[in-house]
Amino acid sequence: MKGIVLAGGTGSRLWPMTRVSSKQLLPIYDKPMIYYPISTLLLANVREILIICTPQDLRSFQELLGDGSELGISLEYVTQSSPDGLAQAYILGEKFLNGESSLMVLGDNIFYGASVGRELTNNIPKSGGHIFTYIVDEPSRYGILEVDSSGRPIGIEEKPVEPSSNLAVTGLYFFDERASEFAKQAKPSSRGELEITSVISKYLLLGELTYTSLGRGTAWLDTGTPDSLLEAATYIAIIEKRTGLKIACLEEIAFSSGWMDESMLRRRITKLGHGAYARYLESLL
Ligand code: TTP
Repeated sequence: MKGIVLAGGTGSRLWPMTRVSSKQLLPIYDKPMIYYPISTLLLANVREILIICTPQDLRSFQELLGDGSELGISLEYVTQSSPDGLAQAYILGEKFLNGESSLMVLGDNIFYGASVGRELTNNIPKSGGHIFTYIVDEPSRYGILEVDSSGRPIGIEEKPVEPSSNLAVTGLYFFDERASEFAKQAKPSSRGELEITSVISKYLLLGELTYTSLGRGTAWLDTGTPDSLLEAATYIAIIEKRTGLKIACLEEIAFSSGWMDESMLRRRITKLGHGAYARYLESLL
């Protein structure tokens, strides 16, 4: 399975912070935002990843992350010249996907919890579409999954006035090799975007959509507004300080998965200098 991190967008709700820099390059406590969605893919054992970003941010992402070889993973890049919708990722990524299934995560979504890796690797089917929902307090602010009395998915509602469930659709999607074809069939919505809902609905109509309702022990945070950005940073800082363990430390995941050996980790430490992050990596040795 391949992975996509969708890290374009305008970030207009964060202006002026994102006037000259991608939202996904802003810090969440001690590391750039994009580390978090990349870590979600790595924890799902996906290490061939396409990063989709704006043309103006491409160089920064490449400088920050390179081709992934330092971590024993593979990172490729493609640009999205205007934010024409989440489903466009499957058109831009068609060549990269090369007929394979994929797990896509939005660049501003953070998933954290003891069972995230397990929930991802155990629940993702071999084919069809699979989405991840999260129980929320104010469903009318989100895309909501409608389910029947036996819990089977029957529809998706975008910011419903009278929500039929409290299951928000998170920014993590598994689709089989048909996703690019379905995205190409999608028509732009009233806001002019190729909506991910169109792709999800295709699988739903075919009766091939399943979902995982992420448990209470999992945190799903998005970081699109100044408040949610601050809250996410505070959340990460509290847990990291309390446990002494880092969240979304890419080197740690790669090292413990055996993708990075000791000499690769040492080279990485030298490159990262003497800050707290580098000291943490030293402690892994
Ligand atoms: P949004 O938060 O919906 O949009 P945005 O990031 O442009 O922010 P704002 O609404 O404040 O202008 O996007 C969710 C994620 O998806 C985010 O990580 C950016 C990414 N995205 C793209 O990469 N391309 C797109 O065409 C869209 C719509 C979003």
